[in-house]
Amino acid sequence: MPESRPTESRLVVITGVTRGLGRALASGFAARGHVVIGCGRSHPHVCDLAAALPEPHAFFAVDVARDKAVDSFAERIRMTHGTPDLLVNNAALMNRQAPLWEITADEMRDMLDVNVAGVANTIRSFTPWMMQRGSGVIVNMSSGWGRSTSPNVGPYCTTKWAVEGLSRALADDLPDGLASVALNPGIIDTEMLRSAWGDSAASYPSPEEWAERAVPFLLSLDASSNGEALTVPG
Ligand SMILES: NC(=O)c1ccc[n+]([C@@H]2O[C@H](COP(=O)([O-])OP(=O)(O)OC[C@H]3O[C@@H](n4cnc5c(N)ncnc54)[C@H](OP(=O)(O)O)[C@@H]3O)[C@@H](O)[C@H]2O)c1
Repeated sequence: MPESRPTESRLVVITGVTRGLGRALASGFAARGHVVIGCGRSHPHVCDLAAALPEPHAFFAVDVARDKAVDSFAERIRMTHGTPDLLVNNAALMNRQAPLWEITADEMRDMLDVNVAGVANTIRSFTPWMMQRGSGVIVNMSSGWGRSTSPNVGPYCTTKWAVEGLSRALADDLPDGLASVALNPGIIDTEMLRSAWGDSAASYPSPEEWAERAVPFLLSLDASSNGEALTVPG
């Protein structure tokens, strides 16, 4: 049976928690008394996180691109913790910098599988329980490159524009009480940013500095935000 939690404590599920923004969000929510469930592919990093944030938080090695693994993850959480109040679809990949015609079919498939199908997988696994309860907020991490384009990031832009469309389409389908939003986090110094921008990423905020703003902003979202394309305030 799900553990009982104080009513003000939210159950937050975050994908891609092993580093970067997801890791900082996990720490930020936990520090404010919320219960965090997270996943990433790297087993050692998942273990590190579980040691840093012990129960009632819980972390699992799950690849969001694998629909059956995501389903098992969701089912396990439902049995141990209950239905999430907030689902943050944060896990994503950045493409190798190259024009679209130089991106291999396998590289493109990986980008779509993780950044788009991975989001759909968690939505498929978690949303029915949120609907049954009648509440919940689903945040799909977009990007400035989900609303604009640049050279050499065509696959990433493709997936983030898709996340914007998916988020709005989901909003049309959700019943009252639930919300789906696309969220541009801003520009933050993470491994992903460094893979695109190199050392110039260092002039941007750290994930921890960003989470100081992002956590309260995410906690402020409710059903009235359904369908919005949002940006973490600067
Ligand atoms: N940093 C920025 O400035 C920026 C700007 C705009 C948007 N964003 C978006 O913000 C989100 C976080 O970005 P970030 O900068 O923190 O990236 P990051 O440092 O590369 O971290 C990405 C996280 O996603 C996980 N991940 C990747 N593939 C996964 C999969 N198949 N299954 C489960 N987890 C997976 C990674 O862990 P494993 O490798 O262990 O799986 C890692 O924890 C992304 O959606 C990104 O597109 C970031």
